[in-house]
Formats: sequence, structure tokens, C-alpha cells
Amino acid sequence: MTSAAPFWTRTHSCGELREGDAGSDVVLNGWVERARNLGGLVFVDVRDRYGLTQVLFDPESVDAGTYDTAGGLRAESVIAVAGQVGVRQQPNDRIPTGQIEIMASRLQVLTRSEPLPIALSGKNEASEELKLKHRYLELRQASLQKKILLRHRVTMATRNYFDEHGFVDVETPILTKSTPEGARDYLVPSRVHPGSFFALPQSPQLFKQILMIAGYDKYMQIARCFRDEDLRADRQPEFTQVDIEMAFVTKDILFPLLERWVAGLWKEFAGVEVPLPLPQIRYADAMEEYGIDRPDLRFGLKLATVSDIVEGTDAAPLANALALEDGTIKALFLPGDPGQLSRKKLDKLTEIARQFGLGGLLWGKVTADGASGAAGKFLSEEQRGAIIGRLAERNGFDPGSTGILMVSAGRVGQVNDALSRIRLAVASDLELVEEGAFAFAWVVDFPAFGWNEDEERWDPLHHPFTSPIPEHMDRVASDPGGVLTDAYDMICNGYELGGGSIRIHDPAVQSAVFEAIGLTEEEARTKFGFLLDALSYGAPPHGGIAFGLDRIVMLLAGTEAIREVIAFPKTQRASCLMTEAPSGVDAAQMAELHLSSTAGEPPEGASRLDLLFPDDA
Ligand code: AMO
Repeated sequence: MTSAAPFWTRTHSCGELREGDAGSDVVLNGWVERARNLGGLVFVDVRDRYGLTQVLFDPESVDAGTYDTAGGLRAESVIAVAGQVGVRQQPNDRIPTGQIEIMASRLQVLTRSEPLPIALSGKNEASEELKLKHRYLELRQASLQKKILLRHRVTMATRNYFDEHGFVDVETPILTKSTPEGARDYLVPSRVHPGSFFALPQSPQLFKQILMIAGYDKYMQIARCFRDEDLRADRQPEFTQVDIEMAFVTKDILFPLLERWVAGLWKEFAGVEVPLPLPQIRYADAMEEYGIDRPDLRFGLKLATVSDIVEGTDAAPLANALALEDGTIKALFLPGDPGQLSRKKLDKLTEIARQFGLGGLLWGKVTADGASGAAGKFLSEEQRGAIIGRLAERNGFDPGSTGILMVSAGRVGQVNDALSRIRLAVASDLELVEEGAFAFAWVVDFPAFGWNEDEERWDPLHHPFTSPIPEHMDRVASDPGGVLTDAYDMICNGYELGGGSIRIHDPAVQSAVFEAIGLTEEEARTKFGFLLDALSYGAPPHGGIAFGLDRIVMLLAGTEAIREVIAFPKTQRASCLMTEAPSGVDAAQMAELHLSSTAGEPPEGASRLDLLFPDDA
């Protein structure tokens, strides 16, 4: 039996006592890390989130019952122990309390723990599934606690920063209407309004704009957002944004304010000085040079389009690509030893190209005597020289260098996807990324719309409330593909940390954008009538941004998995293995919500390994 309340409450935490406390009478509360009997003395390590303290039970100074209980303590049981602080004969320099130990006089077992399903220390070989099911046990581990505490501190620093700059924290509804951020909505059926649904917010986007119209000119919220989308290592179905909006603002006002906040976080929590102002890259340049709008800028390896150089070629793989409406040819060169990548690694890169739907990767080793492989076969010496010359100029290496040339031919989207991925794989193979380095930048001048091939319509690249740049305001109807917007992303190490824009504040422009993306006037009114109305009653120019708090903490914590900085993450299939949500509901509840289900029973034990996290995208 465990002892009944009242229990002895702690005088100190388990990480607090030092040599100077020797002689004091103390009480500690905590979890048993381990108990062992060494030469007749029982040593119990007691732990809480502040640290660990060694407690000693000597049969000479405690009664036999206490001594036996101490010797039989099972790991993770919760105890209260009273005793006197003594200086250790053999100090342990690895822990802050290593100079002392407690000479126990009394012991209370507050709760006993069953044998653990997962090991909390040493090598943890339990399955991911088991760990998530018992997340509270994992959360006891110091490594995870450190990340959760870091998250707390980052949140506090963020709130303070924006408070100091006059921002008002306003909560916005969770039960709301669909917000167009491009993912599927999570829906909540209404009991009161049969057949109607709330949507959980994909972001507070419309509310923060409405707050600007309402006169709260600086808004911030640490906001939960919900998106039913394919998950990746850096994505969760519910996540947290540092959501910001300002009235009477331009990029020139917003950027320095946000940069100083981010630099402050990195200084405080990573000890890294971020040079300001951050560089800005145009979207078009990012796509040309890196094939992606969130390039990892910790290393170079810039790409170049070389279609013009090989124009008129007879080589089928190149000619076929050029014949496509959106065909392109892009190249990448690794100067130096032509043998720097093994055949096996080059085959892996070719495999990446295939995964993106390309026939392969044309690569070759370039030496003083010419080029081997596909790059040798399909390119004339002159073409090769011109390609390497262009890459040399862009990357700042000697155009006469030996090295490895890679050429990718196909549809522009596939080529960019493949080469951006290959660029990362090469950087990893050649260890080009310096440990602990961070490379921040803004990506600016995004196009307003991207062509949605499946639906045959223009989709907003950011969201439809993003303002075209002033010069392109009147092009929305006539040339949607050519419209640039005042949208911007902050990127770091290949991640999108935040994205935002200057918004439309003129209802006529807003209507034109809705029309361009194929919303009829009626649809626009049904979905966003409240915004259009609000815009007509005195809307200030405004703009803002949202940062992924989880991603910020993930980078500061030095991990690549967002789930490690979220106390209760979901699996790749968006379920919580601990609570077993989502789960079925009973027929009465369904009826009350005016719902009937066409789905069968959920699959038996819906928490199998296929529900776990992806390694990566
Ligand atoms: P956006 O959709 O770009 O913009 O989201 C802003 C930031 O939120 C983070 N993020 C995510 N983090 C984890 N899991 C996810 N599923 C996820 N989705 C997004 C990213 C991203 O940069 N309303 C606009 C912002 C604005 O215009 O002000 C918005 O939500 O770090």
C-alpha cells in the first residue's frame, strides 16, 4: 500500500542542493530513477524536472521497514523522502548535485509505478508506437523536457517582444468558417443548425484583417491552426503560429521589426548572432538558382537554366525536353575532383530525378581531356564549356575547373523539384553544411497565382487576400500569370519559417482577385461576404505574417522533427496514439448532430506502424 495523504511536501527540488546545504534537514519529492543495494546501503536516485539527487538509506539510521521499502522501490514510483544533506565521499562531477547526498531518515511512497513499457534512460529501443502511446513517460525524459521548456521560453520571449512594441494579443475563434490556406478543413458539425458545420481555422487570417479594420493597429496571437493535409517531418495537422498583423504598414516597417525578433531569439536561445538586415531573394531568382522557393542557403551550388545554350541540339533527351511547352534544361556543377562522388552516390541522385518523373539525370565527369558519361555524350565541347562557364560565373569558381556536371531536362516543375532535391543530397554527401550554421533570408516578389492544371484555373500562391504590387494592380484580370504580389516568406536552412503579405484593402481589387481565381460573385459573397463588407467601411492599408512557432523551436532545438517540440504530437495519419483520437462516437451522438455515417467501423486497432511519422517529405 502507498501512504495516505497528507504527504510531506518538498523543501527543495531534486536539482537544487549543493555542498553549502550540508547539515540542513530537507524533504524531497520526486520519481525514483533507480534504487540499488550496495554493500548493505540502499542508494535511491530521486528525480524531478530540475535534476536528480542521491539519497542514502543506512540500516543504522532508518528503521527496518523503511530500509526494506527503500530497497524494493521500483523505478518511476513517486516518493517523499526526509533526511539531512551530507557531503558525498565520492562526488559525481557529472551532475550539479553530485557533491551531496541525503542521509534519509524517513520515506513515504506516494504512488508505486508498474514496470515501464518503455525505458526512460539509456538506449530506448521501444517502438515509436509504444512511446507515443505512453507519451507522458517520454515527456519525463530530460532531452524532451529540455525542448518543451525551450518552447515555453521562446513563447514568453515572443510575447514580451511584441508587447514591448505595442502589439495587442487578441484571441480569435476556433469554431469558425473555412479560411483558404490551401489545405482541407477540419469540420465540426453543429447540433443547433442541422446540416451546418464550423471549420477549424487554418489560420486566423480573416480575423486579423478584420481587427485592422476595427482599429487594433498592431495585433499578435500565438494561435492554434488546423490543417488536414499530408504530413511531413515539419508539418502537423494542428500547429501553432506566431500570428502578426499591422495597419499602416509597408515591408520596410515590418521586416526590421520581425528580423530583430528572430535575431533576438537566436541570440538568446542558440547563442548565434544573425547578421541583419537579412538578405532578400526574389522568388524568380530562388526558383532559377535553387529550383525551390525556400532554398537552403548554408551552401552554394547554384543551378542555371541552359536551354538557350543547347537550343537546336540533336540529342534526344535534350531535344525532347525543349519541345515541351514548359520544357527546360538546367545544370549543376561540382567543381574539384571528378571522383568526389562515388558511382553509387551518383546513381542515387539519378534515382531522385526519376522519383520526380524525369527519365534520369545526365551527368558526367569533366576532366582536362573532356567529359565522360551522358554529359559527355549529349553535349558538344562548346556547349559544355558554355554551361560550365555560366555556372562558374554564378557560383564563383574557375570555368576551367574539373568536376562533375549534372544536367536535367524535362518539364520545368519536375526539373526544379528534382534538382533542388539533388542539390540537398549532394550537400549532404559532400558535407557542405557546417554544423550549427543558420542561413536566413526573405523571399519576395511572389507571383500572385499559379496555374492549377487539374482544376484548370488560377490558384492564389499565398492566399487571395494578398495585394498585387502597386504596378500590377490593374493586370489582375488581363494577365493573372504575370501579376507579382507583395508576399514574402522568411526562410532558414531550407525551411519556410513564416509567410505573409501586404493585404488588399480596396474591395474592388479584392473582388477582382476573387474573380481571377474563378469565384463567382455569389461564391465570393457566400464565403467572404463579411470581409468584403468590412473592407467597404474604412479599411486601413495593412499587412502581416505568420511564423510557425513549432518550426522556430525545432530549429533552435537542433532537431529536424517537429514532433519533438510538441508535447502531444499526432502521427503521420493524424491520430493521437495516447488518447486514441479520432475515435467513433455513439449513434445517439451522431443523431443529435444530424449525422449518419457511410463509413464502416474503424479498422481494428487503428494504431499500427503505418500510422507513424514519415522520416521526411
Ligand atoms: P502560411 O500558410 O504560410 O501563412 O503559414 C505560416 C507559417 O505556418 C507554418 N505552418 C506549419 N507548421 C507546422 N505544420 C503545418 N501543417 C504548417 N502549415 C504552416 C509555417 C508557415 O510559414 N495566414 C497566413 C499568414 C499571413 O498571410 O499572415 C498563413 O497562415 O512556418
